[in-house]
Amino acid sequence: MTPVLHGVTAGLFDELPEPDAGADIRLALGPGARVLRGLARADAPALLVALPALLAASPWRHLVTPGGQRMSVAMTNCGPLGWVSDRRGYRYTALDPLHGAPWPAMPAVFIALAERAAATAGFNGFAPDACLINRYAPGTRLSLHQDRDEQDMRQPIVSVSLGLPAVFLFGGLARSDKPQRVALQHGDVVVWGGASRLAFHGVMPVADGAHPATGDCRINLTFRRAAAE
Ligand code: SIN
Ligand code: FE2
Repeated sequence: MTPVLHGVTAGLFDELPEPDAGADIRLALGPGARVLRGLARADAPALLVALPALLAASPWRHLVTPGGQRMSVAMTNCGPLGWVSDRRGYRYTALDPLHGAPWPAMPAVFIALAERAAATAGFNGFAPDACLINRYAPGTRLSLHQDRDEQDMRQPIVSVSLGLPAVFLFGGLARSDKPQRVALQHGDVVVWGGASRLAFHGVMPVADGAHPATGDCRINLTFRRAAAE
């Protein structure tokens, strides 16, 4: 391709500049915790195109915390297990409590991305059996929490950001540890495991906006290994 044509193409499609050969997309947040900038960007259209069928089987819902608070983030799941919360507590279930049928299967493109992201962050052999799907409307936040309902803490958490940007909070092992603030864009992935597996994390209120891929929301896919192997 000639330089002129290349320039035209880049202008028309508003592509990101190619990363330098060998550039490291991994930003360390702590031991075993990495932000993988743009790792899911190329897969994003395929991830999003799979959503309507998943939602037809298991629609968005606002779960209630054990304390009786309605969560502002809308959630659903795919995969063999799904994370749920109600007055009885937090847990994983094989059946969607809305209708008693299994959660929809995890699409192959989801599994492949989760495995690749985990491996890129240093966790080979990640085998997710649960994918929590979160939808943040503008103004929606997720307060600091640990992901601790899984049985195998050797496996990491893989979290994929799509659509509107958000500020991710990544703290330490104590709730009182001051969290780092990380701006996450469409296609960014965060992986935390090992010594950071039980790090507190959350999401600041999502700002108003419109994103070409998702419209007026942020979608987050959080992959976990919930059952013991
Ligand atoms: C979560 O902790 O389940 C979601 C994190 C995020 O939306 O980035
Ligand atoms: Fe979480």
